[in-house]
Amino acid sequence: MRLALISDIHSNIEALEAVLAAIDAEGADLILNLGDIVGYNAAPNDCLELLAARPVVSLAGNHDLALLEEERARHFNLIAYQALRWARETVRPEFLEFFRNLPLVREGEGFIACHGTPASADAYVVYHFQSRRLLNFLKERRDLKVCFFGHTHVRALWYRDVRGKVALLPLSRHKIRLDPTCLYLINPGSVGQPRDGNPEAAYAIFDFQEFSVQFKSVPYDIAAAQRRILAAGLPELLAERLGQGI
Ligand SMILES: [Fe+2]
Repeated sequence: MRLALISDIHSNIEALEAVLAAIDAEGADLILNLGDIVGYNAAPNDCLELLAARPVVSLAGNHDLALLEEERARHFNLIAYQALRWARETVRPEFLEFFRNLPLVREGEGFIACHGTPASADAYVVYHFQSRRLLNFLKERRDLKVCFFGHTHVRALWYRDVRGKVALLPLSRHKIRLDPTCLYLINPGSVGQPRDGNPEAAYAIFDFQEFSVQFKSVPYDIAAAQRRILAAGLPELLAERLGQGI
């Protein structure tokens, strides 16, 4: 089974359309969306319509949860908070039930998927101690080989070998064959607000049969997404950062 991994769409319809077109062209059995459909960018309803029309399996990100609960947006920085308030006023009421039903975690054969970590949509996996903790959780579960996660907007591939060594693997555009004796944490990066210096919309393809992952990105109409942000009256910085991929 080929699984397309997308995350952190953040209301960027131009980026989402480009990624879904690329996934359609190469073929995937399922699209797994790791959360944060809303926030930062200016086309939440278009993104929700597009996702609803396809076999996409989604889970809740911290911005999706904050859309429903004001209290959760309390720790957002000012710009993220402004964008979320705008989203709260803009998302059509018909979509609120969709957000209420989003699970925090999804599981399939050999994998678990979450936004931040399985324990919290707000928690980050950036540092070694954070990835080691999550990989130890996978080891204890025994039935899991991989955890898919998002939230950082930065692509990552962590592994734990049979001796307990935890490290990051270098990323490339080529397909990476994984070692079936290791456990993995895979972050496909962000569709709608990449932060790893590459402004293209990021996603990944995970192949269960081959036990491989390929990190990918596609160019999209960044200028159109920026114009949309400014027309909506959202902070200019949100438009600027899209061009830089930060
Ligand atoms: Fe996010």
